[in-house]
Amino acid sequence: MTVARQEGVGRLVVVGIGLIGGSLALGLKAASGCREVIGVARRVETCEQAVALGIADRAVTDVREVLPELEAGDVIFVSVPTLTVEAIFAQLKDQLPAGVTVTDGASVKGSVIAAARKVWGEVPEFLVPGHPIAGSEQSGVTAARDDLYIAHRIILTPAESTGAAHLGRIDAMWRAVGAEVLTMPVAEHDEVLAATSHLPHVIAYGLVDTLAHDAENENIFRYAAGGFRDFTRIASSDPVMWRDIMLANRDAILKSIDLYTSNLEALRGAIASGDSEHLMGVFTRAKAARDHFTKMLAKKAYTETMEVKDVTFVAHPGGAVNGELRVPGDKSMSHRSIMLGSLAEGVTEVEGFLEGEDALATLQAFRDMGVVIEGPHNGRVTIHGVGMNGLQAPPGPLYVGNSGTSMRLLAGLLAGQQFDVTLTGDESLSKRPMNRVANPLREMGAVVETGEGGRPPLKIRGGKTLKAIDYPLPMASAQVKSCVLLAGLYAEGDTSTTEPAPTRDHTERMLAGFGYDVRRDGARACVTGGGKLTACHIDVPADISSATFFMVAASIAPGSDVLLEHVGINPTRDGAINILRAMGADITLQNQREVGGEPVADIRVRYAPLKGIRIPEDQVPLAIDEFPAIFVAAACAEGETVLTGAEELRVKESDRIQAMADGLKVLGINAEPTPDGIVIQGRGGQGSAEVFAGGEVDSLGDHRIAMSFAVAALRAGAEIRILHCANVATSFPNFAELAGRAGMKLTVS
Ligand code: S3P
Repeated sequence: MTVARQEGVGRLVVVGIGLIGGSLALGLKAASGCREVIGVARRVETCEQAVALGIADRAVTDVREVLPELEAGDVIFVSVPTLTVEAIFAQLKDQLPAGVTVTDGASVKGSVIAAARKVWGEVPEFLVPGHPIAGSEQSGVTAARDDLYIAHRIILTPAESTGAAHLGRIDAMWRAVGAEVLTMPVAEHDEVLAATSHLPHVIAYGLVDTLAHDAENENIFRYAAGGFRDFTRIASSDPVMWRDIMLANRDAILKSIDLYTSNLEALRGAIASGDSEHLMGVFTRAKAARDHFTKMLAKKAYTETMEVKDVTFVAHPGGAVNGELRVPGDKSMSHRSIMLGSLAEGVTEVEGFLEGEDALATLQAFRDMGVVIEGPHNGRVTIHGVGMNGLQAPPGPLYVGNSGTSMRLLAGLLAGQQFDVTLTGDESLSKRPMNRVANPLREMGAVVETGEGGRPPLKIRGGKTLKAIDYPLPMASAQVKSCVLLAGLYAEGDTSTTEPAPTRDHTERMLAGFGYDVRRDGARACVTGGGKLTACHIDVPADISSATFFMVAASIAPGSDVLLEHVGINPTRDGAINILRAMGADITLQNQREVGGEPVADIRVRYAPLKGIRIPEDQVPLAIDEFPAIFVAAACAEGETVLTGAEELRVKESDRIQAMADGLKVLGINAEPTPDGIVIQGRGGQGSAEVFAGGEVDSLGDHRIAMSFAVAALRAGAEIRILHCANVATSFPNFAELAGRAGMKLTVS
């Protein structure tokens, strides 16, 4: 279906001037989007009111009166109760001038299409069925507002026969009043609306009626508070309109009611039998879904007022970092704590959990597979494990956002389940290579489909018997290693991985913490399938990858002295400490201890002049996520820094070699990308406090690039604007706040 771009509407004829029709008229007038508004209402008083309120320039009681004067480019908006639409169509039938577009606002589209067929014998090319997803429990002409549609969705359900020019005109009309327009097939629209709008109205009307008619509850409204008010607001909507919707969308609504009734029955049963697990399952899943929805609504409100869709960091030049800081929990361990805790027997308590979007995506995925997970509340999560074979098929695809770790580790785990599942992600994740996990899983007998070019989505077929393999990793990747080992838990016999260089070993350590035997011998790790995990307590230390931004900040900004508390310093993760020290950084580890099988320390970093180095290749996997920040340190060092053997950086959340080289160049640094690394000429030896020029750089939605350029501003001569920083929330949601507390001057807009 093509949408032809259009000039504004000529005349707008609104048939039925209530909240919906009146608000379109007011909005379009405010946007100078039409030449004239003609109102049509059955009652003369409504006509007079519409004119008096400035909604219509003139008004009539029968649409047929104005049809002869209409011409091509004019629009008739039918905004009457659903079951009256047919009668209005019948009035239009004989006298509608050519080129006039007819559209409507009914909440059910199947009945509008049926009405059109009845009147015209087909769906005419000038008809564009539509449904504005906006409104309020108020109705009538006096409720109309010119801003009702701003940042609200309009669903158009054009038929095959709908003309492109007519569709384009209606699309443009709604955009002119600030709405977002999308198209959908009629049946899909009616099913979606049955579930999300019509069912809630049935329940709200039914509940209020039940309470209002229950004699024993005569005084009940007197005691009803916010919960009742919020839940039943929509029971005050227009009864005629809602009666029509129920009758017009009967089948889809019945389906929704039946589903809801059976869930309500199950809840009733759980309450009757004291099944607290069932109640917690329903309530935690519902809370998570509602919280997610609240965030979606908040973002919408944000775009409404700020008219921006993304986050920009403005990092002001100069400053130093000082104080004691605790950065958020380790991302890799947070993911794994949810995965293993879910598959364990018993209740696992997690502390220090990273409440960032990536780890929350993993948490949500397991909730979607039926695991009861409480929290997170201040980093505490309680996971009611379901055992190795207790996961349930999720209701739809598992969406893991920006998180490569979720997708790749989950792929391994899911290959051993009895159900099919699809894994999807955001735009960045959808470009990342997945054959690196699909190939070994296929060798194990799993059935895994990827999208084009080995990219997401991943479709994993359940019910396959996995066979154990010995897998030499083609690249140093902890995600691939973990994926194979997790699949190995479900395979018959011994599954082993051999890595070309040490990579983070949190999976191996945490499996051992859950009582699963992992045999490790140098580069080889081996598990025997068929074992079980036993719930445990997990204390997630602060993430060294997040701490690195402050290690670099303190190292490059004279006058800095920070203490980073409780940071994980696992030897498979400490490359950034080793590299920065080799460059001359002043880093001391204090209070070294072991917490839950992971080494932890407080890291003190004081300013020290840095020098460029050739980065040893054996450090690359140990600092794989820290290079964007290390490149900033290299730019501030004296002399040249050379990185090789780091081609993996090209397939992270962005191509980090290119993205950093581009940004550094904008800031006046000589940075030359190579296929597997970069060469950076440091400007630290030039006697100037200012290493970076100011400017605008693009983080390409990569959280670590965004934070690295924010740190660079400590040695910049002018402000650095960093675009597309929303994904900082994936790993370090309170970065701006902590950076500010430490002394960096960062504003978020
Ligand atoms: C991770 C492994 C690394 C790392 C990622 C987290 C993990 O990826 O870059 O941020 O938790 O296993 P690769 O395995 O692709 O190197």
